[in-house]
Amino acid sequence: MFTLSRSSRVLGLLSLGLAGSLVSAQGGQTCNATTLCPSSAPCCSEYGFCGSGSFCLGGCNPLYSNALDSCMPEPVCESAIHTFPDLSRIIMNTTYYGGNATEHDWTLDKGQIINTNTSGGELALLLTETNGGTRLSSTRYIHYGTITARLKTGRWGGVVTAFITMSDIKDEIDWEFPGSQITEGQTNYFWQGDIPAQTHGTTVGNLTDTFSNYHDYTIDWQPDTLTWLIDGNIVRQLKASDAVTNGVSQYPNTPSRIQLSIWPAGISSEPSGTVEWSGGMINWQDPDYETAGHFYALIQSVNITCSDPTTEPSDATSYVYGKNSSTFTPSVAFSNLTTVNGAVGSLSGVKGVLGLWTVVGAAAFSLLGALLA
Ligand SMILES: *[C@@H]1O[C@H](CO)[C@@H](O)[C@H](O)[C@H]1NC(C)=O
Ligand SMILES: *[C@@H]1O[C@H](CO)[C@@H](O)[C@H](O)[C@H]1NC(C)=O
Ligand SMILES: *[C@@H]1O[C@H](CO)[C@@H](O)[C@H](O)[C@H]1NC(C)=O
Ligand SMILES: *[C@@H]1O[C@H](CO)[C@@H](O)[C@H](O)[C@H]1NC(C)=O
Ligand SMILES: *[C@@H]1O[C@H](CO)[C@@H](O)[C@H](O)[C@H]1NC(C)=O
Ligand SMILES: *[C@@H]1O[C@H](CO)[C@@H](O)[C@H](O)[C@H]1NC(C)=O
Ligand SMILES: *[C@@H]1O[C@H](CO)[C@@H](O)[C@H](O)[C@H]1NC(C)=O
Ligand SMILES: *[C@@H]1O[C@H](CO)[C@@H](O)[C@H](O)[C@H]1NC(C)=O
Repeated sequence: MFTLSRSSRVLGLLSLGLAGSLVSAQGGQTCNATTLCPSSAPCCSEYGFCGSGSFCLGGCNPLYSNALDSCMPEPVCESAIHTFPDLSRIIMNTTYYGGNATEHDWTLDKGQIINTNTSGGELALLLTETNGGTRLSSTRYIHYGTITARLKTGRWGGVVTAFITMSDIKDEIDWEFPGSQITEGQTNYFWQGDIPAQTHGTTVGNLTDTFSNYHDYTIDWQPDTLTWLIDGNIVRQLKASDAVTNGVSQYPNTPSRIQLSIWPAGISSEPSGTVEWSGGMINWQDPDYETAGHFYALIQSVNITCSDPTTEPSDATSYVYGKNSSTFTPSVAFSNLTTVNGAVGSLSGVKGVLGLWTVVGAAAFSLLGALLA
């Protein structure tokens, strides 16, 4: 459904006051397929605004930037099992992320997290009435591979828990959990942000309570087949050959970050279809909310196994984009170029305005809202 595709994008777009401030600080020039960024502000951020510094890191869209190589190269995939015994591998403020994926595994793009540290570490993503949701993104990209997130979802109408992959040109693979349905999960995928007339989404049901029980949700993304699994059992399979429309492969095929989030879909600023899909308006007087002071989703581990389609050279540090093929899919190659741009330094000029978020943020918010509408 339209709402599903919109949903993942909404969290990104309405993200962080920080984004709003930077937008304003750098002039707020927008970018898209027909209007690329100028050389003075070469990078098109995931929010669709031109800039430099952090605009050139995670989410920077090479096809909408000044040149294909304006965005920083994307940190290459690394197989690992991520747990959360503490928060040391998460950069808590993206302002200070300079592109070094050796130093951090995740960026906290917005919101708050806490480590409940039961049974050796369990990460809670928090949603409050004022924080607009929480999103973590992996610093590294995955270009095919198997990702399993062991998580517990929210259980409140209007509150959505999500585990997705998202590429910089908006190829997307989803697990989404509207909080009113704690025996169901929803799968979906998108190619280059395109919203199909007929949804690619499905609902998988009959799970034991996803709030009280950990389940393993897997996205097994291979060049020829995309498989969704729960607790090791296949629940959906898509062949790449079945995702061809008018001769164009609309199969997710570009390096993607892994994103974990909890976000408010049941709020008045969302379209009614989204509110309904998510289980209605959020009840901020829910006893769970009043007891804990927040809604939450819990992440126990994220297991990443890379399956790059070509052999990784020993000196590979990153992925870079090349030109579109005849079927509108850019080529992707390994490179040994650095992923670090020292965004902290390049941000220093705009630091002063960050405090003004409440002022400029509101303007950016409505601008973003208008763009989305
Ligand atoms: C692309 O951006 C330009 C400049 O902001 C705008 O005029 C144009 O309508 C946009 N095109 C699309 C397809 O959104
Ligand atoms: C991130 O750091 C900047 C610069 O110090 C600060 O102004 C901003 O409030 C911080 N953001 C968050 C969400 O803490
Ligand atoms: C990235 O961080 C690691 C660990 O702190 C450090 O050894 C390395 O030099 C950094 N890389 C760059 C390019 O700054
Ligand atoms: C969390 O628990 C693990 C294992 O019990 C322990 O090693 C670690 O130090 C704890 N972390 C914090 C932040 O308390
Ligand atoms: C749950 O199981 C029943 C009985 O097997 C089946 O009819 C139904 O379609 C399942 N629901 C979902 C959402 O998978
Ligand atoms: C991690 O995922 C890989 C690939 O699915 C699997 O082979 C491996 O057993 C998993 N490791 C753990 C500890 O679950
Ligand atoms: C590549 O293809 C995409 C998808 O059709 C299109 O939006 C983009 O403008 C193309 N870019 C170039 C540089 O041809
Ligand atoms: C990066 O790759 C280029 C071309 O393959 C090679 O000439 C160069 O030595 C490599 N640099 C490093 C630091 O490995």
